Amino acid sequence: MAYIKNSWYMAAWSSEIEDKPFGRNLLGERVVMFRDGSGEIHALNAMCRHRNADLSAGKLVGDHIQCPFHGWQYDTKGICRYIPSQPPPHPVYETARVPCYTVKEQHGIVWLWMGDEGAMDERLPGADIFRDETVVNRIADTRLQAATPLTILENGLDDAHPPFVHTLDEVVPTQLPRRDVRISENRRRMQYHIDETAVNAEYTHQTADKPDWRARVIYGTTPLKSVTVGFDVAGLVYFLYEHVNGEILIFSGMATPSDDEYTWFFTAFESDRSNWFRNRVVRWYLRVQNDEDETLIGCMQRQVQSDDNLNLQLSVPADHPGLSLRRLYGDWLKVEIRT
Ligand code: FES
Ligand SMILES: [Fe+2]
Repeated sequence: MAYIKNSWYMAAWSSEIEDKPFGRNLLGERVVMFRDGSGEIHALNAMCRHRNADLSAGKLVGDHIQCPFHGWQYDTKGICRYIPSQPPPHPVYETARVPCYTVKEQHGIVWLWMGDEGAMDERLPGADIFRDETVVNRIADTRLQAATPLTILENGLDDAHPPFVHTLDEVVPTQLPRRDVRISENRRRMQYHIDETAVNAEYTHQTADKPDWRARVIYGTTPLKSVTVGFDVAGLVYFLYEHVNGEILIFSGMATPSDDEYTWFFTAFESDRSNWFRNRVVRWYLRVQNDEDETLIGCMQRQVQSDDNLNLQLSVPADHPGLSLRRLYGDWLKVEIRT
């Protein structure tokens, strides 16, 4: 399976990274993340240059990470500064270093750039969507799925599946219009917007008329002003719900390749209003909804073994956002394969 390498990827929630090593497999590598004394996060390849022990099983000594095997110490840039069996004045060789990745922490999310530094995008995914006021009311779920990022992301923008897959959606035949998907000039983002006139016709089933009380608690009964849906290359899909009373709900999903077969899927539901009861219901539902998607995606992934199969799929206008995402994703993959 191929995935895009030159992208910011979500590596962890901010709350996961403390002043001790935290390991996660990302883009086919073992990565160790930790906070230094000033709270800044650093990310290194976790394979010790000596005998390949996992640095994430080691510990911090000041701002150095110490390998659990023979105690070599690496600084925040991945340069080995101390070898206990060869103490000073023995030199530490130039080659004794592990790759170090650029980290950015924003809105409670830790982003990593593990690709080509020269291709780095200055803008983080979701820069126009995420905001500090909603992070305090964020309910999150993290899971490792046996699927490609593309399959997971496409499902995220699939408007037609919820009534058939998800507990809180009714089976109602709804005509889904072909979305007016807009692609940014640098082709790193796509978005469509459902305005006030369309949204209240389309989304009534998500609010006041929704028979299930849990759906009413989650989505509220206040009419919507608009919904903005988007995808940022390579791993973010989101729904931004804006209500007429100004309340904002954001549902986001970040897919990060773990290796060729598995993908981390981080999802969050957040609001700019605190509501402990809704948060309890959301916590339950986020897990249920992700379980339902994961089961479905797992079955589907086993059937879609190659791009040839993708080319044989039939699509209808309602599939347009997912297909636009697939095209954008494929274009960036081609760029990387060419370079
Ligand atoms: S394997 Fe890391 S110090 Fe020996
Ligand atoms: Fe779903």
